[in-house]
Amino acid sequence: MFCLHIRGVLLTLSLTATALSRLHPECEMLFQLEQEERSCLRLIEEQSNGSAEGCRPFWEAVVCWPRADVGETVHRPCPAFFSPFKNSTGSVSRNCTSAGWSRTSPPYHIACSVD
Ligand SMILES: *[C@@H]1O[C@H](CO)[C@@H](O)[C@H](O)[C@H]1NC(C)=O
Ligand SMILES: *[C@@H]1O[C@H](CO)[C@@H](O)[C@H](O)[C@H]1NC(C)=O
Ligand SMILES: *[C@@H]1O[C@H](CO)[C@@H](O)[C@H](O)[C@H]1NC(C)=O
Repeated sequence: MFCLHIRGVLLTLSLTATALSRLHPECEMLFQLEQEERSCLRLIEEQSNGSAEGCRPFWEAVVCWPRADVGETVHRPCPAFFSPFKNSTGSVSRNCTSAGWSRTSPPYHIACSVD
């Protein structure tokens, strides 16, 4: 896939993502995802020595789940990744329980109408 190839080149040469995505708008989604992942990993690091109680933050392929307290429900909007060509208004949520994170609800393919 062209975008993945470009992505590898990008990482190797450390070109700026904005410059390349202007040239190849179809790749913008991937760059955006990569940026979201990076900021999520930074968030995880920042929160890693917070309280040991509650649920740990994690990066789930396309969605960043922040740290949460037991009993808390976290809602995240459907990632643009699922529907780059239409406005996605759906959202998914997880509960932080004493046993850890619950499953995603509703499941991504329903909440975000993945085709
Ligand atoms: C995390 O630990 C570092 C050093 O161990 C400390 O400087 C920092 O303030 C801590 N952050 C939090 C959120 O507790
Ligand atoms: C998506 O929504 C934004 C803001 O609501 C709007 O500007 C944009 O034109 C919409 N895009 C599509 C493809 O509907
Ligand atoms: C979270 O808990 C509430 C209340 O118990 C429940 O209605 C909801 O379905 C739960 N959500 C998830 C994602 O498990």
